[in-house]
Amino acid sequence: MSDNSTRRLYIETYGCQMNAYDSERMAEALAPLGFVAADAPEDADLAIVNTCHIREKATEKLYSELGRLRQVSREKVKRGGKALRIGVAGCVAQAEGEELLARADGVDLLVGPQSYHRLAEMTRSLLEREESGAPRISMDFPAREKFQSLPPRSKDRARDMKSSAFLSVQEGCDKFCSFCVVPYTRGAEFSREVRDIEEEARRLVDAGVKEITLLGQNVNAYHGRGTDGTEWRLGRLLNHLATLDGLERLRYTTSHPRDMDDELIRAHAENEKLMPYLHLPVQSGSDAVLRSMNRGHGSADYLRIIEKVRAARPDIAVSSDFIVGFPGETEDDFEATLSIVREIGFARAYSFAYSARPGTPAADARSPVPADVKRERLARLQSLLRRQQRDFNKTHEGRRLPVLLERDGRLPSQLVGRSPYFQPVYVRAHDDWRGRIADIRIRKAHENSLEGEPLAATS
Ligand code: SAH
Ligand code: SF4
Ligand code: F3S
Repeated sequence: MSDNSTRRLYIETYGCQMNAYDSERMAEALAPLGFVAADAPEDADLAIVNTCHIREKATEKLYSELGRLRQVSREKVKRGGKALRIGVAGCVAQAEGEELLARADGVDLLVGPQSYHRLAEMTRSLLEREESGAPRISMDFPAREKFQSLPPRSKDRARDMKSSAFLSVQEGCDKFCSFCVVPYTRGAEFSREVRDIEEEARRLVDAGVKEITLLGQNVNAYHGRGTDGTEWRLGRLLNHLATLDGLERLRYTTSHPRDMDDELIRAHAENEKLMPYLHLPVQSGSDAVLRSMNRGHGSADYLRIIEKVRAARPDIAVSSDFIVGFPGETEDDFEATLSIVREIGFARAYSFAYSARPGTPAADARSPVPADVKRERLARLQSLLRRQQRDFNKTHEGRRLPVLLERDGRLPSQLVGRSPYFQPVYVRAHDDWRGRIADIRIRKAHENSLEGEPLAATS
């Protein structure tokens, strides 16, 4: 097969934003082999499922999706076409490794999250052999090599890039919360050099990107080599990137309370491009639960941090993650979670029932919370969080907000963007406004979004 023929690539992405970023980089890595995007596996030569291992449900999705892809492949062959090649990437690939191949047939390619720089070579070797040979596998852990060996963001591909983009600056985690698979699937913490990050950010901006979200499983544990050879933390990196002409907005996610240092908090006061939004998972309001989660912070530490952040940026929207029904969680522990939620008042939040993950310390715990109790607590917590989100959105009715209009809405001549506080905002606006920051008057607030009307495009 010549390297110039067109091939079609379908990528399905589950999990966090880091997977969304990785999927884009995988597509870019395969472009030199002639791969262009397919909207459906039916039209593809290669399908990659980029997987998430965080909760049991996330993992199960992979197996049902693989069944569907095998079916698509059989139909293609029946119609006289070529079989669909199937790849599994991401955190399930890393966690299950070759066991995954035993559990599901028809997987041609297995690639862990730190090995995407090998993907092109693995795919080439797969395509060179028409008959289905042994699956190609790569599961190494060198995050440094991954970032240094992936092709740079290309301007061509970047042309269809949206006005808001992700940029991974940090990978992996050394914190080992007792419930979490990430330290095992993504490996040890690694921070990219400022020079490389700046170069990638510049390419994105040159391609029309206005907002960049810096990503890391523990993004505020960032400690990369700065342009002066010393180690920089996230606050300094954000301030440095804010000097890029054409870049209008910066965000970062996900942070850990233990790494919320003063430099980063100060950036929220002083860096005008840094959006007033902080996603800072607390998981629980009970100190006993936080201890057995091995979080390394108590509820008072969390409250103190939020107080400091709000002193620096009074209008900041605070968001969080919660786990309910962690082993040993009593009704009093759960009440402590409701109480910290009431005390802080969240603009938005994500909450989950605890899911035991193989290989993590909490999976062996003796006092699991029964499923119906977990469900009931989750419903109570979510109803409180939903109310807070609605109330937060309501405070914006009648106000004017600068909104980065990113993409088309569902209705004709409707565009959708994000407010500085990360709320989705729907407006009727001319197509030309896509990709611009517009001055929007908020007419109506809903639980999950705002509706507004455009006053002027400002960029
Ligand atoms: N690094 C981030 C979280 C990454 S995982 C942090 O430290 O906060 C995203 C969220 O998934 C977590 O914040 C947690 O709320 C949830 N989560 C992780 N493991 C889980 C598990 N075993 N069961 C239920 N929820 C889990
Ligand atoms: Fe998981 Fe904890 Fe690391 Fe977050 S800090 S990725 S929850 S181990
Ligand atoms: Fe899932 Fe891996 Fe992200 S487990 S949440 S895809 S780091």
